[in-house]
This record gives sequence, structure tokens and C-alpha cells, in this order.
Amino acid sequence: GCVSFLRSASVRNHGSVGPAVQRESTSSSSQSEINREIKSFAELQNERQEQAERSVLLTCPQKVSEKSLLKYLSKYGDINNYFFYESFDVCAVVEFSQKNSIAMLQDGTVMPAGKHESCIPFKSRVFTLKINNPDDQANTRQSLPCLKQSAISINELVERISAETTLDEQICTLTKTYELTEENVRLRFLVCSLLQDIAIQYFPNCSVKPFGSSVNGFGKLGCDLDMFLDLDGIKEQNSNKTSEPFSVEYHLKRVPSERAATQNVLTLIGECLDRFVPGCVGVQKILNARCPLVRFSHQPSGFQCDLTANNRIAMKSTEMLYLYGSIDVRVRALVFTVRTWARAHGITSSIPGAWITNFSLTMMVIFFLQKRRHAIIPTLDQLKALADAKDKHIIDGNDCTFVRDINKISVSENTETLGQLLQEFFEFYGNFAFQKMSINIRKGKEQTKPEVSPLHIQNPFEQTLNVSKNVNQTQLERFVSLAREGAWILQQEGMTKASVLGYRPWGLAALLLPSTSDTGNKAKKRRRREGASERIKSLLESLKNSKSDGKNDATSE
Ligand code: CTP
Ligand code: MG
Repeated sequence: GCVSFLRSASVRNHGSVGPAVQRESTSSSSQSEINREIKSFAELQNERQEQAERSVLLTCPQKVSEKSLLKYLSKYGDINNYFFYESFDVCAVVEFSQKNSIAMLQDGTVMPAGKHESCIPFKSRVFTLKINNPDDQANTRQSLPCLKQSAISINELVERISAETTLDEQICTLTKTYELTEENVRLRFLVCSLLQDIAIQYFPNCSVKPFGSSVNGFGKLGCDLDMFLDLDGIKEQNSNKTSEPFSVEYHLKRVPSERAATQNVLTLIGECLDRFVPGCVGVQKILNARCPLVRFSHQPSGFQCDLTANNRIAMKSTEMLYLYGSIDVRVRALVFTVRTWARAHGITSSIPGAWITNFSLTMMVIFFLQKRRHAIIPTLDQLKALADAKDKHIIDGNDCTFVRDINKISVSENTETLGQLLQEFFEFYGNFAFQKMSINIRKGKEQTKPEVSPLHIQNPFEQTLNVSKNVNQTQLERFVSLAREGAWILQQEGMTKASVLGYRPWGLAALLLPSTSDTGNKAKKRRRREGASERIKSLLESLKNSKSDGKNDATSE
């Protein structure tokens, strides 16, 4: 079941964040055919960006007929694709086949006349669709079919995976349940594109690109949208024709540092979003961070957004993670599982602090998979050795070169199952010499720690930096003891297969339930345990109910 799910998932992901086609180690005759379909990260990004530029976002009335809505919009041109979702309002994302349809739609769009408040005139690709005649029965009877853009709760997930029969299936179901959907990815690119429309007014040829978990293949529904304002496109038009008698240069404002330049640009865009752009709320300019950013929430999409500029290394590490996730199907599945486990136990948190981050966890999974007796993925140095001249990439003196053509990477001989790998992951980190050693995915080998931070994970591209510098000893200890407990749970008899005896939570479900051996005082522990037994009780109840109903919701996807 698992392999076929992963294959079908890859087909569904065709052209989305995932690799277009999963690699298959067995078929040799069709290998070249498959290879042709695997798109590079850059190709996928460009395709998505272009698609987003032909798309609009509409808020719609609660009840309206899908057919008449589409009929009306198609008078502006052919529609390639569309979907509906619910945030504050019911919304539609509509992708036209031609860009000029948008200009035509804008020509036919009116500025609302405010009766009481004043409004700042602003034109964008976000519109409100109004019904002219609310009594029109044919038009207002139906509800639009909305697709969910958020993840189900951990309790619902536990319920769902309890219906599976093997640990491997549970892991696959978790991944399938939490990964970004085609539509969610479209929405993410559209929000970037809308922001680009604004930035472009000041900086023609700039672009706004998503990075981080929105595009690295490890994003969970509901994750933040990390964006990067790229001004390099402006410089690219340079042509040095020294054979000409003269050359002409632009006048540029001089600023003390590149950091100051980034801060200036972000200040401007942040002000703009705050003052003029409807739907961008809670704008915070966090300019003194190591990587300055503007944070806001984008209401029509429901995304929490982080906009950065001059952040090319993060873009490169996104591409690296994307590549690792595409090399072997087990990488993404294991990362999703470890991230979900970590979130369930408060190892990671949505609040910034001394916690381990998702990015650090991903690096730990990658390192672990490199360290298998038969490595499942190559080291970063091996990926660099496979690179050719076109792949060469140096950012501010940091060598960020690695192969980008996945077909040059040979398929691993390792045949371990996801269930085995999960168990081994817990054992590996339950016994890792964190005190002395640093995790290094470039070498695929632990190195002696260069400094005293409790957890040291070398930044793959800025090699003097520690990705997990923020993590304190307490948080590291929690991770280690929960990893040990995870290993212990999976070692118990019957823990990797559904129990014939009935309703006991097993496998991943057992791993995701609150831990009882957590550090903390006795009262706290007791409370936790009570919480756990409450959750187990309600889980058992719902399982019994769904069984006695003679159907099981969890399997009907
Ligand atoms: N990044 C980095 N070095 C860090 C932190 C982050 O290079 N110390 C880059 C990584 O490419 C990361 C991206 O910035 O993927 C975004 O960071 P963040 O939002 O913290 O992580 P995500 O991978 O997006 O995960 P999450 O779903 O938790 O947002
Ligand atoms: Mg992120």
C-alpha cells in the first residue's frame, strides 16, 4: 500500500512542489523517459510563478452557483484552472490562460464607494464578486465546493492512523494527510505574486519568491509562508560593452552596508503593506534580526507571512532540501513523521525561543539517513562533487555548489522500511554524543564541536554558523529523553502492527500521544498523564464508534 501511495502521490504532485515523477530503481528501459519528466527546482519555481501571474483571487458570496460564476468570468478569457476555499470569506483562485484577461477584468472592475469612511484607492488582483440581483434563485441557491487549506488536528490524525494495519502505512498516511496540496501551493505562489506586483512599482524586474517549507517539499498544511524579495533581476540587465566609446551608468543611492540596504527596502515595503494594501494586517518590521524581515498576516489566504530580502543562501538551502526530498521517497515521509512527533511533544513550538526548529530537525533526519550502513542519501560534499560548471554557485564567498540534476545521483541500495528507520532514528539520537559532537551533513559524519552550544548542527553553506544556536540544554535533554522513549515504545511487542485484540493505540498513534516520562514536577507530570489518558479514552471511544458504525471514516479519503 505504501509504495503505491507514494507513487500516486508523486503523480498527483506532477508539476507541484514535489518531484514531477518519483524515481524508480527497477525500470531501466523507461528510465530515460522518467528522467525527462523530472523538473529541476528552478524550472518548477518559474512555472509556478508564471502560473501565479495569470491568476486572480476573488472573495465570493456565501451562496452562488459555480457554473454561473465561471460562465461570467470566462467572458474575460479562457480559464485554465480554479478552486474555492474558505478563509474569512469564501474565496476563489482563478487561473486564466492569458495574462491580458486580468487587465480586462480590472477594466470592468469598479472602486467601491464608501459612504462613511474614506478609502485609499488601490488596484490589485484581489477582487470582491458581488451578485447584482440577490433574488436570483438560480444564482444563489448553491454553496461553492470549498477545499480545506488547513491541517487536521493531531487528535484527528491519531484517530485516522489508528485505522491502518502497519507502521509503514501509518507513516505514509501521516505524510499524505499533512503535505501541502496542489491548491495550497498555488495559493502560496499567488500571494508572492501579489506582493511582487507592489514591489515592482519601486523596483521593476524584481521578483518575490517563496522559500522554506512552502517549496522545499517538507511543508505541512498551515505552515508559514517565507518569501524572498529578489532584486538581482534588476542588475542582470548589465551589459559591459567596453568596445563602445562611452558607457552610461545609473545613479545609485549609497548606503553604509548591504544590511542597511536590505533594511531600507524592507522598511519601505512594510510601510506600504501596512498603509495601503487591503488584507495585509498585523505588519511588524523586524529589522534587527540576523536576517531582517517583515512579518504580517495575509487575510484573504490566511497565511502568516515572513518577507525577507537579500536572503539568497536560504533560497539555496531550500533547493538543497528539495533535492534531498526528491532523491528517495523515504526522506519526506520520515521528516514529516519526526516533525509531527516533535510538535506533539512540544519539542518544537510556534513561538520563537530555545526550542529545536523544524529546520534543525530536518537536518537531523538528513544526517541520520546519510549515516545508514547503506546510505539512503549522499553527503553534501558528494553532491558537490557531482556538480558541473553550470551548478557552480558562490554567495558572498560561501560555496553553495551542488548538483541540481537529480538523474546524476544514483539510487540507494538501502531497503530498510520506514518503520525500521523511525525506530533507528530514535535510537540514533537517543544515544548521540551531543556533548562532544557536531552534526555535519556536508561530511555525513559527526565532527568535534567547535563551540559550546548544547546542540551543534553545522550550517551547510555558512559553515562557521550553527543552525541550532538557540537551543538550550533543557530543550536538548527533552529531545533526547523523548527519543529514547520513542525507541522504547516501538520496541514493545505488537507496536509496529495493529493489534488483533482491539483498540489499544499502537505504532505512530502511541508515539504521538502525550508522554508520561516527561521532565517536570510531579503535579505537572500527573496533569500530563491525566491529559494523556483523557485523550486515549476519547480516541478509544471514537474508534469503537466508528467500528460499530460498520464504516471507518479514517479510511475514506
Ligand atoms: N534557514 C537557514 N538557516 C537557518 C534557519 C532557516 O538557512 N538557521 C532557511 C532554510 O532554508 C529554511 C528557511 O530558511 O527552510 C525558512 O526557515 P523557517 O521558516 O525557520 O523553516 P521552514 O523550513 O520554513 O520550516 P517551518 O515549516 O517551521 O516554517
Ligand atoms: Mg517557514
